[in-house]
Amino acid sequence: MRKLTLVLGACALAFAGCDKKADGEAAAAKPLRMITEATFPPYEFLRGQEIVGIDVEICRAVAQKLGRPFQAETVDFDSVIPAVISGKADVGAAGITVTEDRKKNVDFSIPYVKTGIVVIYKKDNPFKDVAQLKDKRIGVQGGTTSENYVLEQLKKEPERSKSPAEAVAALKSGRVDFVIADVDPAKNCVKGESDLALSDFITSEEYAVAIKKGQPELLKTIDDTIAELKANGQLEKWVQQFTEESDKLKEK
Ligand code: ARG
Repeated sequence: MRKLTLVLGACALAFAGCDKKADGEAAAAKPLRMITEATFPPYEFLRGQEIVGIDVEICRAVAQKLGRPFQAETVDFDSVIPAVISGKADVGAAGITVTEDRKKNVDFSIPYVKTGIVVIYKKDNPFKDVAQLKDKRIGVQGGTTSENYVLEQLKKEPERSKSPAEAVAALKSGRVDFVIADVDPAKNCVKGESDLALSDFITSEEYAVAIKKGQPELLKTIDDTIAELKANGQLEKWVQQFTEESDKLKEK
């Protein structure tokens, strides 16, 4: 019995020592938590269980600059910005388009890509122009700028899916007539699908990293990181690498 007490005493001491150390290093060692929605190649997708992609690498580079460990979590797209606002996550990176509406709720970094949305269509039902979409069933990923486009420009309700790939599955099975999605995941979706094609851009958008408002230092670190990754060619390398990897996964 005496022995046990002693052992416990030693443990308590050891823990106390640990705690002290953790206190001192707490700020530096707290992981930078990224929130994303990982069905959006090449920006974020799953390699087995692991979340990988361009956005993941950008946020990992930010964590490195801060000297903090890094972790990423995936949720539905319409939960990404709420997680940033509530502080559940430190950085939101999910191919998030900068919009005036979103700017009211979060701060955005400088943009890291210029892009836009396109129409995915079946070659036997070709897309001609936007006017043609008005009385058609349009599939989109929920919570995205594609959804807003259907609501605001086409003045109708879209058919919402959990991912671009799920929307394209609905197109293939005839449950929707067209899909609207961001160009890069759209390219991935039509890869190897000889009956599907893409329109030109119907909007012009930019992606940036979103953080909770009122953190100028974190914002500056993210901006500096993005500026460096652009200038040294690393961003472009990741674009190539993750486009190739996600295209290969699609072909499987
Ligand atoms: N760029 C579009 C938006 O901000 C779609 C982003 C979807 N991203 C994702 N990881 N699923 O609304």
